Amino acid sequence: MKKELIFPTPSRKGFITNYPPYRQWKRTAAESILPGKPINVYVHIPFCIQRCAYCYYRTNDLKGIDRRKFLNRYVDALCREIELTAQKFHLQDRPVLSIYFGGGTPTILTSDQLERLGKTLFEHLNVDSPEFTVEAEPVTLTPKKAALLKKMHVNRISLGVQSFRDEILEICNRLDNEEKALKAVDIARSMGAVVNIDLLSGLAAEKGDSWAYTIDRALSSGAESITIYKMELYANTDYYKSLRRKKIELPDNDNELSFMNHALDEFEKADYLPWCFFTFTKNGNYKHTYISSVWEGNDCFAFGASAFGELGSRLYQNTNDEEKYMSRLEAGELPVNRGYHLTGLEQMIRTVLLGMKLLSLDLEKFRQRFGIPLETLCGEAIDKMEGEGYITTTKDALTLTRKGILYGDYTGRCLAAPLVEMGK
Ligand SMILES: C[S@@+](CC[C@H](N)C(=O)[O-])C[C@H]1O[C@@H](n2cnc3c(N)ncnc32)[C@H](O)[C@@H]1O
Ligand code: SF4
Repeated sequence: MKKELIFPTPSRKGFITNYPPYRQWKRTAAESILPGKPINVYVHIPFCIQRCAYCYYRTNDLKGIDRRKFLNRYVDALCREIELTAQKFHLQDRPVLSIYFGGGTPTILTSDQLERLGKTLFEHLNVDSPEFTVEAEPVTLTPKKAALLKKMHVNRISLGVQSFRDEILEICNRLDNEEKALKAVDIARSMGAVVNIDLLSGLAAEKGDSWAYTIDRALSSGAESITIYKMELYANTDYYKSLRRKKIELPDNDNELSFMNHALDEFEKADYLPWCFFTFTKNGNYKHTYISSVWEGNDCFAFGASAFGELGSRLYQNTNDEEKYMSRLEAGELPVNRGYHLTGLEQMIRTVLLGMKLLSLDLEKFRQRFGIPLETLCGEAIDKMEGEGYITTTKDALTLTRKGILYGDYTGRCLAAPLVEMGK
């Protein structure tokens, strides 16, 4: 039944000095806005040594241009952006929790270029000993580059392996093969870094036995962390064109689901436990700080063409035109192109979607942050997802089951559906 509203009695008394009243304010809440709140840092290198047939990322293989010269100019622009942003946002006051070099393929940069970037970060930001991840395509990780990355204090390498089967990699137009990928894992491990390998489930020509081989190799490679992305087909890829011309065949949804089920079985046997629904680590250790911190809504400053960052409830993105990106910085301007201010409702939706990626959503934290229990807003969706076996619930948390893990973002989407509906 709807509660009756009680209005105040007419009076000129009762001047509102603030809302909510000061007596509700707490010292602990002040700590989170005082200077010194840690930040995450993302550096985007949207260039690759080849264009993979399945890849939907906006990357440039720099064919037909002087690669070294172009990348030198790009790195100059990145260094300038870091310097300008650090001044403008007083970043010396805020310790860096994590750094992530993503792409594209950051290891396409020469050792000199990487070193220059590392020096700029350490000089202009408050960097002590953060988690420092670099994405690498196996063929680009030479022992010399690995030694340099170690000198730069990189302590996590994420290798795009995709498959350990040469015939499958060939259809992907990658320059790697099984031998090169395993060698890269060894190089990364010998520099003392935590190694993650990305695999793609649902590649062309993949069958149960080739997938089982890939999972087996991934586990025996010694990598501490294994990420499985489900291959998503996009219209801007060679895969898409080849499929239309019937030159390749992709596994159907049931097959792909059985690949993931197989991976979950093998990971369980080998004690590789998930910390998010697509990354599994040795004994559940080696959680990736960068991703979890950003998904929990902490600030992320992003550098590079098309890079996007997050500051509280504001999102922003740099221009994705590399030439514009460089020339704006050469003129001493920040290259931000667009932004978005999340409404309260969108912040709730984001909390549910990103929270479920991390396997478990803290209901008390949600209530404290938004002032209303998620159960009040999305009770029906929670009951449905629990009834169908995607989550378990306690009074403190919603947690993905194995079935929930298998279906990826589906659970988050269903749980957030009533919120999305409210916004319409
Ligand atoms: C930005 S790439 C960085 C890795 C590095 N460039 C490489 O491929 O060696 C990150 C990951 O995105 C994943 N990815 C690329 N295309 C994808 C697609 N169509 N669907 C799902 N994941 C994809 C791949 O697994 C890749 O390793
Ligand atoms: S998968 Fe990696 S190497 Fe291949 S095109 Fe995409 S970002 Fe570049």
